[in-house]
Amino acid sequence: MVEYTQNDAPIYDALDRFRKMRVVPFDVPGHKRGRGNPDLVRLLGEQCVGIDVNSMKPLDNLCHPVSVIRAAEKLAAEAFGAEDAFLMVGGTTSSVQSMVLTVCKRGDKIILPRNVHRSVINALVLCGAKPVYVNPEVNQRLGISLGMELSQVEQAIIDNPDAVAVLVNNPTYYGICSDLCSIVKLAHSHGMKVLADEAHGTHLYFGENLPISAMKAGADMAAVSMHKSGGSLTQSSFLLIGPGINAGYARQIINLTQTTSGSYLLLSSLDISRRNLALRGKEEYARVVELAEYARAEINQIGDYYAYSRELINGSSIYDFDVTKLSVNTLDVGLAGIEVYDILRDEYDIQIEFGDFGNILAYISVGDRKQDIERLVSALAEVKRRYKKDKTGLLTQEYIEPMVEVTPQEAFYAEKESIAIKDSVGRICSEFVMCYPPGIPIIAPGERITEKIVEYIYYAKKKGCSMTGPEDANIERLNVLK
Ligand SMILES: Cc1ncc(COP(=O)(O)O)c(C=O)c1O
Repeated sequence: MVEYTQNDAPIYDALDRFRKMRVVPFDVPGHKRGRGNPDLVRLLGEQCVGIDVNSMKPLDNLCHPVSVIRAAEKLAAEAFGAEDAFLMVGGTTSSVQSMVLTVCKRGDKIILPRNVHRSVINALVLCGAKPVYVNPEVNQRLGISLGMELSQVEQAIIDNPDAVAVLVNNPTYYGICSDLCSIVKLAHSHGMKVLADEAHGTHLYFGENLPISAMKAGADMAAVSMHKSGGSLTQSSFLLIGPGINAGYARQIINLTQTTSGSYLLLSSLDISRRNLALRGKEEYARVVELAEYARAEINQIGDYYAYSRELINGSSIYDFDVTKLSVNTLDVGLAGIEVYDILRDEYDIQIEFGDFGNILAYISVGDRKQDIERLVSALAEVKRRYKKDKTGLLTQEYIEPMVEVTPQEAFYAEKESIAIKDSVGRICSEFVMCYPPGIPIIAPGERITEKIVEYIYYAKKKGCSMTGPEDANIERLNVLK
């Protein structure tokens, strides 16, 4: 095999060579380099449709890579300090699910915080593992769930010595990190694997003075959203593994659900972005941090908004904070985060990542410019001037401790009936309800519905959160166990 360095992008180079060969396509995709679909060419351009090709010997095969894709995987592993890496084309959802399915099988217990993304609980529906939730502490002022405290993880391990793994968010959407190194040591000393959802943590591998990355902390697997802060195309992701995981088995698990027609647009974007971060990540993320710090200082100057940061660190539930996250509490302006989110888009043409009951999150990444930050800051100042009101009646995002009655898989596949949400208190839910983003379920399959949950759903609907999950698209009825 050819020797590659981080200066190379083997998939990108192979596509370049392939384009020059002018091969006549009698294979899929059927648009045949765009000739069969002129509108697609108008939208995406010749360059793009010309490399939307299928697996073939010169381009390797994602399901069983032996040449350029394998080389790209090895380079990714090296760049991220992992034992091995897999290029993923089904979003970080597919990385998270493959990670859980690799270590858990039916009936196994997994220790995890409840403020996980839906993809984690979806994986439990798929494999039949049992969740052991560690209830995260909540910052009452901000209304956000924090990290898992080491003592809570320890207690969960003592109570469930038969658990097979611990899953950690590193960091949460809002930037909060748990004490990952100590959790890894503790879990490993009890023979448990550690999985990290690093959907919001790509930059931790390349930037300086940021929280520790999962691979560095010794975790066994990490799902890394390269498309979020890493600059690759939407839906592309990396699954990283440490030395304690059998790479061949992980690949088999990935192939249970992964497409056999991996997109070369996504694969090459992963390859190019990995090269960019390996060569220039340190400087790029130094600039991201600088922009985020600048934005935070300016927003805090406006008054009433609270753009929080490392001052929250408390040594346990907020062990560390990712300063690239621009999370801003809006409650003192008298507006829910979701209201500010809507105003920014509808009246200022500014699309931020999400708004919840009390906070907004603006994603600052490799593509941001100072003038855009200035625009966000001045829009926020104007929103305050135009809309500030009394905050009475605004709820903060309470964490509702789940009452798990049956496993997510049992509940999802159980005999069920559809009832109005208002009549559902006391019943066991068989589906998810969540605001998306952030995609953290308000209720998940197998959990008992309480008054607080119903209240929460109504409030989120009233405030205009985009809600998803149930079979009933209007979110008026819920499927519950018979
Ligand atoms: C914490 C977390 N994990 C996993 C995912 C899934 O990522 P993707 O949208 O790439 O499937 C997300 C998406 O927002 C997320 O926030």
